[in-house]
Amino acid sequence: MKKKLLSALLCVAMVASLVIGCGSKEEAAAPAEEAAAPAEEATEEASADATTYKVGVAIYQFDDNFMTLYRNELESYMKSLETDTVKYDITIVDGKNDMATQTDQINTFITQGMDVIICNLVQTSSAETIIDAVVGADIPLVLINREPLGDTDESYAGILDNPYVCYVGADARQSGTFQGQIVLDLADQGDINGDGKVSYVMIEGDPENVDAQYRTEFSIKALTDAGVETECLVDQVGMWATDKGQEIAATALSQHGDAVEVIFCNNDAMALGAAAAIEAAGRTVGEDIYLLGVDALEECQQMVAEGTMTGTVLNDHVGQSHTAVDVAIKALNGEAIDNYYWVDYVMIK
Ligand code: GAL
Repeated sequence: MKKKLLSALLCVAMVASLVIGCGSKEEAAAPAEEAAAPAEEATEEASADATTYKVGVAIYQFDDNFMTLYRNELESYMKSLETDTVKYDITIVDGKNDMATQTDQINTFITQGMDVIICNLVQTSSAETIIDAVVGADIPLVLINREPLGDTDESYAGILDNPYVCYVGADARQSGTFQGQIVLDLADQGDINGDGKVSYVMIEGDPENVDAQYRTEFSIKALTDAGVETECLVDQVGMWATDKGQEIAATALSQHGDAVEVIFCNNDAMALGAAAAIEAAGRTVGEDIYLLGVDALEECQQMVAEGTMTGTVLNDHVGQSHTAVDVAIKALNGEAIDNYYWVDYVMIK
């Protein structure tokens, strides 16, 4: 709207940009076509006229392999979308796996006048409080990675039913089913000792997280649905962490020895720990034990290729982070957004 006039009157433009300041709501509501300035306007003067959007990103915990890949990709992708006239001032904060800390961070984002907030909740049970605070301040909210059970649990029904809120993620049921499918595709279907059942150890992520619940449930469901008998030897919480995965696997292997045929881990970080425990116990993946993870971290893809891990499931951090950014930009441009955006998992074996 004003831009073409202003490019003819550069002095006025510079004064105007000083007065308006960066990332103001008025500019945020500018139509999308304004964001793509013609090349001839890409001069120093034009960039002084750039709109800077303030983007707040709250991550549940920096010390998490998968979410580190995710947040780095999110930031670099959003930066790659900058133009001479549109800039993104991105602030990323570490919730340190503490909901009170994250709530403070979100409140600070609101006070700082963020134009959009992307949030990886520490606790999905706090979703409603966070949504109320952010949307109440007229800021669009993109929830990522931890689904607040909007479409699967009646007590949460309608929580995302808000035009300024959405969830971007992957359906964890699919990742669990893929883990089970990888075992079903093995020649012995996981029954290494031929006793008619698959005896397994389950190492779970944070139990408050639907990813952990669904992966635990659907990996075994895939086996039982196919008529395979299963026996749970150990089911423990490893909180997504390598050291806990190692500890749980080591204890399970020393308690149950050769009876352990399959170790299911809700993520690759814990599978890396389990792999170390398997090696220390003198067992060999692919020969006398199977090991499954989720995420497809680079080192785990390598292990699957070498046979030191049976399989994993690609948790597409690139697809998810790009979708989250694209949706955030839509919201910044005042375009309508959906409540859910799903990105598929991919089986790796
Ligand atoms: C999962 C991922 C885990 C962990 C978790 C955090 O999707 O598989 O490795 O990052 O998210 O919520």
